Amino acid sequence: MADHASDLGAARELSPLRKTTSATSVDALVREQLLHFSLDPASELGRELAEVATHVYRANQAMHGLWEATLARIASLDRRDRIAFWNAKRFLCFQLAKLLDTLQNPMRKSWQSLVVDRGHAAQRGPYALFDNVTAIFSSTPVITRTATYLYACTEWIDDAFQGKELLHEIYSRLMNPTSTCLANFIVDVEAGPLAGEYFAWNFNSGMAAIDAVLAHLVGYRDIVLSSRNVYGGAHQLLSDWYGKRGNLDVAVEWFDGFGARDFELALAQLRVVHADRLAQGRQIYVYLESPCNPHGYVLDVPAICRAAHVAGLEVICDSTVGTPFLHPVLRREDPAERPDFVIHSYTKDLVGSGTTTAGVAIARNERMFLAKGSRATIAGVAGGTREIDWSETLFWNVYYVKGAFLDADKAFEVINGMRTLELRMLQKCISTATLARALARHPEIRVNCNAVPGNENASLRERALYLGLPAPLFTIAFERPDGSGSAISIEAFKRFFDCLEPAFGLQVSLGQVNTVVLCPAQTSHSELSGEALRAAGISPTTIRIAVGDEDPRALLAHFQRAAELALDPVSPGFSKRFAAPDEIDALYRAIYLETHERYVRAQPAMAELLR
Ligand SMILES: Cc1ncc(COP(=O)(O)O)c(C=O)c1O
Repeated sequence: MADHASDLGAARELSPLRKTTSATSVDALVREQLLHFSLDPASELGRELAEVATHVYRANQAMHGLWEATLARIASLDRRDRIAFWNAKRFLCFQLAKLLDTLQNPMRKSWQSLVVDRGHAAQRGPYALFDNVTAIFSSTPVITRTATYLYACTEWIDDAFQGKELLHEIYSRLMNPTSTCLANFIVDVEAGPLAGEYFAWNFNSGMAAIDAVLAHLVGYRDIVLSSRNVYGGAHQLLSDWYGKRGNLDVAVEWFDGFGARDFELALAQLRVVHADRLAQGRQIYVYLESPCNPHGYVLDVPAICRAAHVAGLEVICDSTVGTPFLHPVLRREDPAERPDFVIHSYTKDLVGSGTTTAGVAIARNERMFLAKGSRATIAGVAGGTREIDWSETLFWNVYYVKGAFLDADKAFEVINGMRTLELRMLQKCISTATLARALARHPEIRVNCNAVPGNENASLRERALYLGLPAPLFTIAFERPDGSGSAISIEAFKRFFDCLEPAFGLQVSLGQVNTVVLCPAQTSHSELSGEALRAAGISPTTIRIAVGDEDPRALLAHFQRAAELALDPVSPGFSKRFAAPDEIDALYRAIYLETHERYVRAQPAMAELLR
């Protein structure tokens, strides 16, 4: 087969001298390769190896052709053809692995002949490459528990350090196959049909992901405009670290309300208050948490993004509480309505069981990674385009140097958890609506939950969250209906709260299969000042309920009995003012059936699946 100039590049890619070779044919590349490894091309072994190498170079040329054909045609193939094409290519993977296996079996003999028995073999360890080949076929991602990786040759590793050879992992602090697998998984789940446009980096915690994005964007004396209700840790990071004079002296402003109008008013005010900073060229960044911690209220993220982008501002959105199931903020058709950076604490509902801590930042490909030395043209925030340089991507600017990566064991744990996300979330939404609406019938309990009809955030919840389902997080407070403060003393409240085990878990965190409760003022939001707590709608008797997958009536029954024990002595008849048992059964049944009805109706019809 003649070498065309266009596919010689594909062949050269496989050369150990890919960066320096001047070979102009596959034959010349093969000869050069043998000489590189000090093998005489005229020898018997040299001839044998040359034949295999020639096929391999040719195969890579054909593979690149296949790659291009796939990209060009996949969209126009019907489902039948896509099934056939997928399975044919999948089988090719097995054939290639079989080639590798066949190559390696005798290599083990070479290995055994080279490794010195005493004083060497045990220290060198097993040569994992031989046995890792079949791991490609593990039906779950392999936990790649290693700090380092074998590399092919000096020119390939040179490329790897430039971000131009992604076959070569270098060091697990930078990339690790299990973590990469999770990154691809979350992008598929989060962005769905737009997954090809997005990229993710995993971190050791949600806070590390938040910090990475802030560290990437926010500079000295810049300004952050944040939604009011955010996780206490994020509040503290923004105010106490970024805001500290000795650190970046960032000005942090908070806006109330849920919509674009609230945001625009706050932005206008901010421009006046910080006119001096803006005159010095400081930037404004927008930080959103939706649905928010602790009340579960949702923001109009698409409208706020649009308004921020019109104003030329980038938006970071912590979407942890909603998960991609309820709050898929990257799936908007119009890119102006999507946040520029999306964050999840995997620790919560994505893992689901509370067995690990981890986090992720997701953004468009070009914002996350470019090979060293390259540039890309990206959409400008307020329209038009702008050029960015590789050093401005999150990978090189932050991830590569800071070391807050996610290791393989944890990545595996997250992947495992995410597989049951939809099932868990559906039940949680049902339980949330049941609990919130049942508790709201008690006259002395104020329920902050958008699942309660008439709640200030209810109509936005209908529009903004998948199927209008509520996020499984809300707060209650023991307050008189006239707003004149707590209906019970703080001592009685503490006695009540401490009786909530074992039906409720007295635990921090959220997004677990079991329902957990805490008092934000003392725990998740304890970093906030008294004034900030009041502004965030958190009182000393506020309880945050992070709903799990249990039967909500079992939780309500315990709640009622705990009230009998701790509240009736100070507020006679308190426990009698809950909704009647029959009413709660009817409420649960109605919400359960209606939610499943909505869910099943939202699934594609059979005729659509056949297309
Ligand atoms: C909304 C939200 N974002 C981020 C975080 C931080 O995540 P992690 O605990 O994984 O650092 C939390 C923790 O509670 C949270 O509730």
